[in-house]
Amino acid sequence: VSFAEATLQIFRGDREDGKTVDYQVPLVPGMVVLDALHWVQSHQAPDLAVRWNCKAGRCGSCSAEVNGRPRLACKTRMDSLPLDQPITIFPMKAFPVIKDLVTDVSWNFRVNRKIPPFQPRAGVVWKMDQRDVDRVQEFRKCIECFLCQNVCHVLRDHGKQEQFGGPRFFVRTASLEMHPLDGVSRTSVLKEELGIGLCNITKCCTEVCPEDIHITDNAIIPLKERVVDEFYDPLLMLVRKIRSA
Ligand code: SF4
Ligand code: F3S
Ligand code: FES
Repeated sequence: VSFAEATLQIFRGDREDGKTVDYQVPLVPGMVVLDALHWVQSHQAPDLAVRWNCKAGRCGSCSAEVNGRPRLACKTRMDSLPLDQPITIFPMKAFPVIKDLVTDVSWNFRVNRKIPPFQPRAGVVWKMDQRDVDRVQEFRKCIECFLCQNVCHVLRDHGKQEQFGGPRFFVRTASLEMHPLDGVSRTSVLKEELGIGLCNITKCCTEVCPEDIHITDNAIIPLKERVVDEFYDPLLMLVRKIRSA
């Protein structure tokens, strides 16, 4: 069955107050949710706040919850959704709403500042194996859409923003920790500042990543292993105890 129109049920409001408003949008072939939002903006609600930049899945600005699922509005085709019922569009739940679909994601940039940047090892030879390039390249595909942050229950349901950095920043830390030319250790930052121990490997972050980064298997689990090796290895703990005695 093909439909001529869709109903968008869009959240309108701010942190204090809000409600959903229905808009009828004419469908055109190839239309994505961001096109439909732009149609609403130009025909029915010029004050509708939507953040976007590239309309090509590259900038990570148009993150929203479409029919309850965290998605990029510019990569979600209207014909992939059940058009016989209203399509709900909400802002990301894990971040404070500024207006309508726009959230304040500045907390993420504060977390980012806790991670020591790349620093080359002393006397490093600037040469890398292709295998090492590929490993780090996966993490560098991140477009900072923060959909993984939005869906992780530690932030979304338990509000542990003070204790937990979230999957996006485990990806960034992995890109630095697994860089063969880097000389800094970030294991204590992972344990103390980013609270990696709070992640219980639910993998919801990996499921929503539009860049298909294997966040849990390739970033979080190897980083957890490094933290365990450094802080909980019984032999190392004994050595530390003896040294500090
Ligand atoms: Fe988005 Fe994936 Fe980066 Fe998370 S890791 S911010 S889901 S691109
Ligand atoms: Fe959260 Fe991903 Fe861990 S969803 S609990 S960071 S596996
Ligand atoms: Fe850039 Fe959607 S507008 S990712």
